[in-house]
Amino acid sequence: MKILIYASKEKADYFRQLVSSNNVEFLHLEKKENISVPSDIIPYFDLALISLSFDFDTSYALIQKLREERSGSKVAAIAERNAADDIMSKLFEMDIDDYFILPDDSKRLLWAIEKLSSPKNIEKQSIKKGEDRLVIIGESPSVLNMMKFIKKTAPSDLPVLIEGDSGTGKELIANALHVQSSRSSGPIIAINCGAMPHDLLENELFGHEKGAFTGAAGKKRGLFELADNGTLFIDEIGEMDGASQVKLLRVLETGTFRRLGSTEELHSDVRIIAATNKVLENEITAGRFRTDLYYRLSVLRIAVPALRERASDIPLLINHFINQSGIDKNISTETIEALTAYSWPGNIRELKNAVNSAVVMSEGQEIKISDFPEAVRKKQQTSPVQISQDDGDNTGTLKNFIETAEKEFFIRALNKFGENKTEMAKALNISRDMLYRKLNKYGISY
Ligand SMILES: Nc1ncnc2c1ncn2[C@@H]1O[C@H](COP(=O)(O)OP(=O)(O)OP(=O)(O)O)[C@@H](O)[C@H]1O
Ligand SMILES: [Mg+2]
Repeated sequence: MKILIYASKEKADYFRQLVSSNNVEFLHLEKKENISVPSDIIPYFDLALISLSFDFDTSYALIQKLREERSGSKVAAIAERNAADDIMSKLFEMDIDDYFILPDDSKRLLWAIEKLSSPKNIEKQSIKKGEDRLVIIGESPSVLNMMKFIKKTAPSDLPVLIEGDSGTGKELIANALHVQSSRSSGPIIAINCGAMPHDLLENELFGHEKGAFTGAAGKKRGLFELADNGTLFIDEIGEMDGASQVKLLRVLETGTFRRLGSTEELHSDVRIIAATNKVLENEITAGRFRTDLYYRLSVLRIAVPALRERASDIPLLINHFINQSGIDKNISTETIEALTAYSWPGNIRELKNAVNSAVVMSEGQEIKISDFPEAVRKKQQTSPVQISQDDGDNTGTLKNFIETAEKEFFIRALNKFGENKTEMAKALNISRDMLYRKLNKYGISY
């Protein structure tokens, strides 16, 4: 795929460095005084990125020209966040496919490029709606680290272990790893060990020969065969039974496997991504998970944080899910703030479901806090502020009251400071030791 770029040399080089895909070729168009160049000087491109901050009038003329000359290609404008207001307002009037305001949109831009350039998508004319379900939203340090991890490890064939609570986005990460890898033209096949009776799991993974067991009427190819040249996503690996663990370990060690009831060694070129919401170390201690398999699977390992540990992403996610719903609705800052204060134990899945339901439930143009499920609002009522207002009815002890308030206080502080415990301890004027003691005391995961 060819990207035509009209920007300063520094910016063109910057993009070149950012984009890892080998399929992308950058064509840097030099700044021209007079852009009414004959069209055959403009090379063929799939996507043009035109920087408006470079030289507005020329860029504007170039966009018009590209539109006329290359109607089949995409043209996008790039502007800086601090660009002059009149540039920003013209941005909305221009005949362009998309615009990217930097640095805010740099991730979206990279994603658009990766998607356009992946072999699977190169044939597609446009990024279809619905594909944005693969976009990872968030700007908190932990999400940025996640993106970095995905970008670095996607090209590798080593197994990846994704650890995180339910609904934190493990499957999304697995898909992103696949899409950004050179296997993206191959399949990604998912299997959930928790949803499968143990005796069926082996059969699903490795397949069987006719007559391998009672009821095996015909030959069945297993997922390892079906995922050849692609990715096998093994979800809830902590639920995998011992026999399947042994077989999986063997595939990881030798690259070969056998169908049930067969002696023929089969080979398949599969990358394994496993996910778990259990702490596998505990499963090992309890004798339910093999240490050797754990080491094989966790060569590359990523821990996905709970949503409340990256609460600064909640507003972005809310807006994203509203947009994704395709229904035109607004939401006030106060409602977003109230939603940000909730602890979201079901993580992003819970937030997504709550927003989707609120979009449907809301009557006017604006989504209100009352449109959200009861659980979300209930949580608000148990906040310490409410308790103190309800003093008359409060029959609990003072100790209970203080502890409830203290717990809430630490959850909020954690939402605010995220991973930076040093800064958090400093702001709260307590030692880091004390901070960890309190977090542990109240069972707040950090
Ligand atoms: N960062 C994110 N940006 C946008 N959507 C997200 C993000 N993380 C998760 N989602 C969405 O939230 C939902 C839950 O994510 P996903 O299924 O990947 O979670 P999970 O960790 O696999 O959960 P479980 O352990 O319950 O299987 C999905 O619809 C997913 O698209
Ligand atoms: Mg999942």
